[in-house]
Amino acid sequence: MSASNDLESTEREALSALEAAPSLDALEELRVRILGRKGVVKGLVDRIKDLPAAERGAYGQAVNRLKGAIESAHRSRLEALKLQGEEPQGFFDVTLPGVPPVRGSLHPLARVTAEILETFGKLGFRVARGPEVERPFYNFDALNIAPEHPARDPAENFYLEETAAAAAAAAGGGGEREPLLLRSQTSTIQIRVLMSQPPPLRVVAPGKVFRPDTVDATHHFQFHQVEGLAVDEGLSFSDLKTCLLLFAKDMFGEDARVRLRPWTFPFTEPSAEMEFLCWVCHGKGCSLCKQMGWVELGGCGMVDPNVFEACGIDSEKYTGFAFGLGIERLTMLRYGIRDIRLFTDNDVRFLEQFE
Ligand code: FA5
Repeated sequence: MSASNDLESTEREALSALEAAPSLDALEELRVRILGRKGVVKGLVDRIKDLPAAERGAYGQAVNRLKGAIESAHRSRLEALKLQGEEPQGFFDVTLPGVPPVRGSLHPLARVTAEILETFGKLGFRVARGPEVERPFYNFDALNIAPEHPARDPAENFYLEETAAAAAAAAGGGGEREPLLLRSQTSTIQIRVLMSQPPPLRVVAPGKVFRPDTVDATHHFQFHQVEGLAVDEGLSFSDLKTCLLLFAKDMFGEDARVRLRPWTFPFTEPSAEMEFLCWVCHGKGCSLCKQMGWVELGGCGMVDPNVFEACGIDSEKYTGFAFGLGIERLTMLRYGIRDIRLFTDNDVRFLEQFE
């Protein structure tokens, strides 16, 4: 057999043996037998000196190529066996990088709500809550909203007629039942607190509210408000303004300013629209505040005596102030968010920015 035939058959046999090695131990035995100091390849190399001078060059190159091919086959098989978990017993590579856990974070609305509650907490306000499905008494009547007031219009509210019918049936049917509705404002919680806690009192009440508004960049049919209510002897409008100013400074820094502009709400008298100095341009006018220098965030006023009377509180003895802030609008202005729909899109690329 010629030297080159010899090389071909040696390579074929070596490669198929290496590829079929069943374990790391078997592979190591093959490596010693084929590539070791007294191995098959060494034997082929040793034959160079016995060849005629003219054949040595070509034969030497062929042996080198064969050696390279066998070494590469050995490496591949070694990697494959390691991947199959064929590491030597007890082997554990402590230098491998770990798998970091994915961290969650608070939704921006939850984060800002917590900050609002904390700020009012420092001013002595305790947290109150109320149901999202309400009776018209709490959403309208007790809040001094007259039966013919447009705020009660079915086009302005989500009335739950089926729920009302079911409740009527459960109660034995017959008689007119008022339809329940999804609350349109957190002011409902004012009434629940006034009817259950004797003054003096100070509460903040966050929650979801619902209105069939057309959805756009600043309106949603479902959003959040936080209501504030303080009742005591001798509370005045200046206490309201001071309270809002302290809140604004705590949220936005010492430069914060609040201005109150006359408005009407059936449940407060006098009433005002609450505006904060734009904390991006500090009153100069910018795209965030639509060049106004001020940003409207909610309504407020002194509790109307009719509300006190509806809740059985002596309006001659007590006065109080109330306010309601839109949490989405506050959060949008705080972080420069341009579209209210981002809060409910559930897009992690948006949510990840608030870690
Ligand atoms: C009220 O809801 C009153 N209950 C506030 C109040 C409480 C006045 C206590 C006096 C005393 P208004 O309808 O303006 O007021 O809503 C308050 C805030 O809710 C608005 O300033 C705005 O920030 C937010 N808001 C209103 N409608 C929407 C909407 N469709 N989408 C997002 N935010 C809204």
